Amino acid sequence: DWTPGNVIADQVAAIRAQVGDSRVICALSGGVDSAVAAALVQRAVGSQLTCVHVDHGLMRAGEVEQIERDFVASTGVNLVIRDEKERFLAALAGHSDPETKRKIIGREFIRVFEDAQRDIVADAGAHGEEVKFLVQGTLYPDVVESGGGEGAANIKSHHNVGGLPDDLQFELVEPLRTLFKDEVRAVGRELGVPEEIVARQPFPGPGLGIRIVGEVTAERLDILRQADAIAREELTKAGLDGEIWQCPVVLLADVRSVGVQGDGRTYGHPIVLRPVSSEDAMTADWTRLPYDVLSVISTRITNEVSEVNRVVLDVTSKPPGTIEWE
Ligand code: XMP
Repeated sequence: DWTPGNVIADQVAAIRAQVGDSRVICALSGGVDSAVAAALVQRAVGSQLTCVHVDHGLMRAGEVEQIERDFVASTGVNLVIRDEKERFLAALAGHSDPETKRKIIGREFIRVFEDAQRDIVADAGAHGEEVKFLVQGTLYPDVVESGGGEGAANIKSHHNVGGLPDDLQFELVEPLRTLFKDEVRAVGRELGVPEEIVARQPFPGPGLGIRIVGEVTAERLDILRQADAIAREELTKAGLDGEIWQCPVVLLADVRSVGVQGDGRTYGHPIVLRPVSSEDAMTADWTRLPYDVLSVISTRITNEVSEVNRVVLDVTSKPPGTIEWE
């Protein structure tokens, strides 16, 4: 019988058998998969697990807090947060090419995660313990390499052993290897992972860094975070989350247009809404959102985010457009 409870029981037994008394490390991205994988390992071996969240400053509003507070409260995991916002901003300064930005974010992520691992390994070593295992939220579609999309391949290169230093040898713990996304969500709910995390739509590893067309700066991240929070809030309020696979909100930071706001002429930036419907992110269609919902989002963003004077809707399917703009 497939039930979330049975999956948990089986995986807890398997993880205990695999890990024994060793310590385990997990990179928590804030996404569904790593959160549920971590929660399972926590259920199995408790304090032997240490999770690391690299705060690259490219998350959406409230997401780091959800990990820091709600996820820790509901699962009891040991969590180390590396606040590396300044480091990522400095590394990204002056770069606007999408592939360059992706490479920089990936490279910095690996460096920070390596530092965190070294600290954990050194600390465990001082207590005569060994850290031998690394948790990965690999899903069944990743295993069969269909449906993961280039994005999934990308995030894997951020987290998998290929990115680890040569002198550290880890064995992988992959408790979600037989599961599909909806099954992962069911297991997560059964484990008490907060609904905001379990229900989260796909979000790229490089985060808002690839949703700012142009150079990434702290000010631009603030603008995008505000606009994105408004769009998410209104889509959820309208009951559209189930219909939408994901809705990237994109800031065209290098584009300006003339507007009139309040008493005067403005010269602000456009925000793009990119709602898509999809089965697996390999292909997608643009979601026909109700006009009244689009209208509320547009009005709120242009009223509440002063740097934005125009909201536009992306009506391109994939192919030819990708889901993300970069
Ligand atoms: P595209 O833009 O290629 O995106 O149509 C397909 C799916 O992958 C996500 N995506 C990523 N996910 N790391 C990730 O974890 C990435 O670098 C990345 N790039 C794109 C995207 O959000 C969509 O769900």
